[in-house]
Amino acid sequence: MRTHVVDHPLVAHKLTRLRDETTDSPTFRALADELVTLLAYEATREVRVESHDIVTPVAPTTGVHLARPAPLVVPILRAGLGMLDGMMRLLPTGEVGFLGMVRNEETLEATTYAERLPEDLSGRQCYVLDPMLATGGTLAAAIRFLVDRGADHITCITLLSAPEGLAKLEAGLAGVDVPVTVVTAAVDERLNEHGYIVPGLGDAGDRLYG
Ligand code: PRP
Repeated sequence: MRTHVVDHPLVAHKLTRLRDETTDSPTFRALADELVTLLAYEATREVRVESHDIVTPVAPTTGVHLARPAPLVVPILRAGLGMLDGMMRLLPTGEVGFLGMVRNEETLEATTYAERLPEDLSGRQCYVLDPMLATGGTLAAAIRFLVDRGADHITCITLLSAPEGLAKLEAGLAGVDVPVTVVTAAVDERLNEHGYIVPGLGDAGDRLYG
C-alpha cells in the first residue's frame, strides 16, 4: 500500500477551514467539494489512458483519451457522498457505484448496509471516496469488496487519515495482490479513545449532513 499526502498550500488552507468548529454545514460541504477536486488531480495520476488520433485545425496528431472500461468511483455512504461531485468534476465519464457502510461507535467495527456495484469489476480501476480513515476498518472492508469482484487497481481518497488506521489498513491488505494507494490531505496525530481522529474535524457525516 502506498500513502500519498497531498502537500499543497491550497489544500492546507481549505483543510484548516474544514477543521474549524465554527465552519457551518453549507461552507463545510463547499470546502469538502473543492478539496476533493484538488486531491482527485493527484489521485488520478495513474488513470489509464489510450492513444487517440485527432486532427487539429492545423495538422493530425495523436493524443490520449480515457481507456475503457471507465474507472469506477465508489463513495462510501454517507459521508463519502459529500466527495462525489468534486470527484466527478475531474472524471465526468466515470461510472459510479455505492457502498453503504457504518461503523459501530462502541465496537468500531464497520458493517455494510447497502451495496450497488457492478457484479464484475475485472480489469477496473476504482476510486473509493471516504473523508475519514480512522481505524481503517471501513476502507479495509470496502477494498476487500472491490477486490473480490475483480478490481485490479484501487485508489482511496480521504480528507484525513490517522496513523493507526493507515498501519492497520496496510496490515489488513496482506495477501491482497492489487495495488492500493491512499491519497489524503493530511495524516493527523492519533486516534482518541472513541476512535476519533485528533485533532481531526469531528464527525464528517454530521458536519456534512447534520
Ligand atoms: C465514518 C467515516 C468513515 C468511517 C471511518 O463514517 O465517514 O466511513 O467512519 O472510520 P474507520 O476508519 O474507523 O472505519 P460513519 O460510520 O460515522 O458513517 P456516516 O458516513 O454515515 O456518518
